Parts: sequence; C-alpha cells; structure tokens
Amino acid sequence: MVDLRVNIGIELQNPLILSSGILGSSVGMLKRLAGTGAGALITKSITENPRVGHENPTVIEVAPGIILNAMGLPNPGVDLFLNELEEEDELKIPIIPSVAGYNEDEFGRVAARFEDAGYEMVELNISCPHSTEFSTGKVIAQDTGRTSQVISAVREITSLKLIVKLSPNVTDIVEFAEVALDAGADALSLINTLEALEVDPFFEVPVLGNIFGGQSGESVRCIAQRKIADIALAMHSDRIRNVPLIGIGGVRTPEDVFRFILLGVDAVGIGSSILYEDLAIFENILDGLERMMVDKGYESLDVFRGKAILRIAEMMV
Ligand SMILES: Cc1cc2nc3c(=O)[nH]c(=O)nc-3n(C[C@H](O)[C@H](O)[C@H](O)COP(=O)(O)O)c2cc1C
Repeated sequence: MVDLRVNIGIELQNPLILSSGILGSSVGMLKRLAGTGAGALITKSITENPRVGHENPTVIEVAPGIILNAMGLPNPGVDLFLNELEEEDELKIPIIPSVAGYNEDEFGRVAARFEDAGYEMVELNISCPHSTEFSTGKVIAQDTGRTSQVISAVREITSLKLIVKLSPNVTDIVEFAEVALDAGADALSLINTLEALEVDPFFEVPVLGNIFGGQSGESVRCIAQRKIADIALAMHSDRIRNVPLIGIGGVRTPEDVFRFILLGVDAVGIGSSILYEDLAIFENILDGLERMMVDKGYESLDVFRGKAILRIAEMMV
C-alpha cells in the first residue's frame, strides 16, 4: 500500500481535487462527486448575488483536448448555495468553496459567509478571464494592486485559509504569486483558463456567445507545467515563500498527476477531463498512480514531490 495523503493546509486522503466550475455548481452534484474518490471538491465560484452567466453557447469542444468556455460565473448566490449545502448531510469529503466577486468588499463578504457557515478554507477566484461581459478589461489577477487588495480584504475580516487561484494570462506569474503571498495567501492554485477565441468559418462568427472565452483541457497541460515550474523554481531559490501548490490544467491520466507532483505540487486539480472520462476519472487515476508508485518503489508522494524541479534547478546553473 502507498500513502497518498497530502496536506494543503487541510489534510486530504489523496491529491486529487475537483477543480472549480466543473460540475461543482449544484449541491446535488457535489453529493454525487463526494463518492468518486476525489480528495476534495472545490465548488463553482460563488458570488454574493445570483448570476445567470453569459449567453449560450458557453462551453464548446473546438477540437480534441481544446475546450473553450465563457460561462460568466453563473451561480445561485452565496445565501441560496449555503442553504442548499446546509440541507445536506455531512458530505464526508472536504468541500472548499470558491469565492468570486466584483471587488474586494464582495470577496470579503462572501468569504465571511462561508467562514460563518463553518468552512475552514476557500479558494479566491481572482483569475476568471470572462467574468466581465465580452471579457473586456483586466481581471483582478492581471493587476498586482487589485490582487493585493482583494486578498488583504479577505485576510483582514476572516481567519480562513486562503488558496489564491492565479492567472496564466500574465507575463511573470511569479510576480503575482509574490504579491498574493505578501497579502496573506496560504496556498496557490494554478492555472485558470487561458484567454482564447475560436471563429466558426461557416457561420463567420465567434463560436461562444460571449465572443471570447478561456481555454482548458489537455491542450493547456504543458503551459500549466511551465507556469507551475516558474512558481516552484521561485520557491526553490527562496524568491518566494514556500506554500502548498495545487496544479491544474489538462490533467487526464495518472502520468499527468505524476508529472505535476514531480514539479512540486501538493495536489492536482481535475477539470475538463471529466467531460471525457466521466466521474470514474478519480478512481482510475488513483489506481494508476498507486501502480506507478509501487513499480517505482515510492511509498508516499513526498518521496518524489519536486524531483523534476531539483533536476531543472541543477540543469540551469
Ligand atoms: C466549464 C468550465 C467552468 C469553469 N468555471 C470556473 C469557476 O467557476 N471558477 C474557477 O476558478 N475556475 C473555473 N474554471 C477553470 C478550471 O477550474 C481550471 O482552472 C481550468 O479549466 C484548467 O483546468 P482543466 O484543463 O483541467 O479544465 C472553469 C473551467 C471550465 C472548463
């Protein structure tokens, strides 16, 4: 038997986490997901008031492994979401609410509601590339000042553990990690989706209702690895503080999880691949991961976490 437990600020039975926004929008669905083998579930991003989201189409597979979405953060609002959650029995798996908002005050108020309801940790979604109509303007995670303000505001009024979800749509992601950590982030998750567009050559219009969207799926896996490596190398060289990392982006197989852990992540988010593999993805990846670890003689994830980062650091001197 291998030990798959990880600690991201809270203890998880295994490193697989449902990423925000994929199936985690209704409490009924969270209940179904709780029995799939995942180590934790991150909910759909929740705002203070209900949001209907953008016009259809909102999610499209434009080619195998290339998913575009512009959902526009549809959600029932924090009050309704919490009411539904409270009606459920214990879900027996850590639930991490994802918090979103227009500004630092809304982030603070929504996070405080989750804290009052007994949650220990939230993820701050400051990096959704299409939270505004037509994805215009910078998102919070593309502006160091606003990144700092939002995290500080939540830090000030709650004692929640904070995962901050970073955007890949910046020149230097380490700069944003540094700002997030200085403002009080306890863990970092990355990557959110990449700014994207697809035009339909027959109808001669963009395929998504919101015109622009965010790209995810296997097509972003190597980009995610590069961004994770940038952060992990900055931690290795003490440029930034060492905190738990949740690696997200295109993960579909046990080998992908292995790759991300070799780059130093503590846990791995599973998102778009559920569209291909269904809910069995969690058990299938866990089985494969265990087999790989047994074959290599690794008893726990700690034994090989960050090995590729050490190698990369050596190669770069
Ligand atoms: C349909 C869809 C909805 C999403 N909604 C959210 C969301 O509400 N909040 C959030 O932080 N990320 C959201 N994301 C981004 C994912 O959590 C994840 O960061 C991204 O898709 C990359 O991972 P993947 O390639 O495994 O999907 C969404 C992604 C998709 C495909």
